[in-house]
Amino acid sequence: MEFITYEVEGQVGIITINRPKALNALNSTVLEELDATLDAVDQNEIRCLILTGAGDKSFVAGADIAEMSTLTKAEGEAFGKKGNDVFRKLETFPLPVIAAINGFALGGGCEISMSCDIRICSETAVFGQPEVGLGITPGFGGTQRLARLVGAGMAKQLIYTARNIKAEEALRIGLVNAIYPLDELMPQAKKMAAGIAKNAPIAVRNCKKAINDGLEVDMDKAIVIEEKLFGDCFETEDQKYGMEFFLDKSKDKVKEPFKNC
Ligand code: CAA
Repeated sequence: MEFITYEVEGQVGIITINRPKALNALNSTVLEELDATLDAVDQNEIRCLILTGAGDKSFVAGADIAEMSTLTKAEGEAFGKKGNDVFRKLETFPLPVIAAINGFALGGGCEISMSCDIRICSETAVFGQPEVGLGITPGFGGTQRLARLVGAGMAKQLIYTARNIKAEEALRIGLVNAIYPLDELMPQAKKMAAGIAKNAPIAVRNCKKAINDGLEVDMDKAIVIEEKLFGDCFETEDQKYGMEFFLDKSKDKVKEPFKNC
């Protein structure tokens, strides 16, 4: 691949958008390669993904402005769909995804981070939806996911003013969960991923699905979604082992890794 690297460390997969000359901006090739990378993740082995950007300056500086500059209306809509389809694949990917935001997260960069389950960032991170300054709307889910994450009022303010915000403000409004010095960001992302990976994988996946699917419907339907996914965990080897381990009162017991079955 030209612009995406994928590494496996234990049960954690690390996807890096690697186009530093353009501050990791998302052109069509990046989007296609990201789509193919997700398709190739071995979901039997991997239990958590981390998404980050190459270099120490930018996570993703947005969709590629040069590529977009000559698009027709129809091509613009198709480019929006191309990004939306990949970001939705990321959002609904069965495994949890942590965005490790190591710098600029502007436009499509902020949008891709919002398609991840959890966002943590460096002290140097900058967030924003600068699109209206370029004559367009946010087009890779920003108008939808920012409002859901930080509330409609704050999302409208950020989007209409096109104002960039620093890491501290992103933390205050709930856009990110934590801020770390840049050199501690990836170690912290890996530590969190390892903490997720050690838990029962079917249960973790079902939690993601329950939260995502439940947020899209009213509470009466949402709790039914939860009941189904809760029930699905029973009779798995991991459920049997996890509960037997708790109930076993022997003193020198050692917890075995969950098996994903
Ligand atoms: N698209 C294409 N190229 C980009 C880019 C982008 N989004 N962001 C940066 N680059 C390129 C620059 O053109 C420059 O290329 P050259 O070296 O060939 O000139 C290179 O990356 C380095 O960028 P700068 O010289 O501008 O670096 P800087 O440190 O001075 O500024 C920055 C950094 C503030 C992030 C600035 O690059 C910037 O404002 N980038 C654009 C941010 C933006 O508007 N993003 C939203 C895009 S629209 C969108 O994403 C739509 C959507 O929702 C789908």
